Amino acid sequence: MDVKKGFVLGAGIMGAGIAQVMAQKGIEVILVDVDDSVVTRSIQNLKKGLDARVEKGKMSASEVDGILSRIKASTDIKEAANADFVIEAIVENVGVKQKIFAQLDEMTPANVVLATNTTACSISEIASATKNPSRVIGMHFFNPAVVMKLVEVMPGLATDPQIVSRVTEFVEFLGKEPVVTAKEGIAGIASRVLAALLNEAVWVLEEGIGGVADIDKALKMGANQPMGPLELIDLIGIDVHLAKTRNLYEKLGDPRYRPCYLLEKMSNAGYLGRKVKKGFYDYTQNPPVPMKLN
Ligand code: NAI
Repeated sequence: MDVKKGFVLGAGIMGAGIAQVMAQKGIEVILVDVDDSVVTRSIQNLKKGLDARVEKGKMSASEVDGILSRIKASTDIKEAANADFVIEAIVENVGVKQKIFAQLDEMTPANVVLATNTTACSISEIASATKNPSRVIGMHFFNPAVVMKLVEVMPGLATDPQIVSRVTEFVEFLGKEPVVTAKEGIAGIASRVLAALLNEAVWVLEEGIGGVADIDKALKMGANQPMGPLELIDLIGIDVHLAKTRNLYEKLGDPRYRPCYLLEKMSNAGYLGRKVKKGFYDYTQNPPVPMKLN
């Protein structure tokens, strides 16, 4: 699939990473967020991460300059009109995504793919807000997008099989490994399975069976997990994880996904995880220490 200009909507944790992945492959990217300060901060963070790679000898300074020069920051969604591939990574709320997809559908040529990085919103429901649902598809990167190999390609009810093939090829072009879901479920494969595990870890904490550090230690040492489940929720974002789990619980009615009230309490209190340096752990400390949560 020949993509020359990508458009990424949402410059948070995922959008910024996805923009970097594309720019690293020579694609010009327009990175858009409603919040000007978010785009500026995201570009600064990308630069910091890339500069660290130069220091480690993994990349040259001119490569970094090239990558950064290909990412254009903006707050104007209308820039989507100039792109030949669109991926949305905004807040995990199906109503908000539907409004955005209706706009993107109006402003982009009909052959442009409209992809969403949603974890647990329905692709078919998002697509239903457009006049051309056959070009709407889930393209689910994992966090951090630059590092994680997997991208789940998730068609909805109306997605054209040719779009599925084009997106799968594009994932490979980006140097990632695609897994195509055979039909739409909630949250694809990896996130759905993982959500149950992460949720259980929060319940174990809530029930007082283990503290934050011990739960993470138990899963790292006993189940060979590279990160503990609570560290991982902090990386994902408490708010993002809560929205996903809530969605799974609402749609499947399965108690495995019943979100623990602790998550809601933390989210409402601004304990959003690593992105604000405060979640299950306090990231202003080095190494991070467990927060007081009761
Ligand atoms: P985030 O909260 O870091 O970033 C979302 C960004 O979208 C914010 O900067 C916000 O200002 C912006 N935004 C909100 N409404 C907007 C609009 N109408 N137009 C433009 N920008 C808008 O969220 P994150 O973590 O990057 O998640 C984004 C999406 O990716 C969600 O659907 C999430 O479920 C999914 N996802 C998240 C993963 C994670 O580990 N955090 C992993 C894989 C997918």
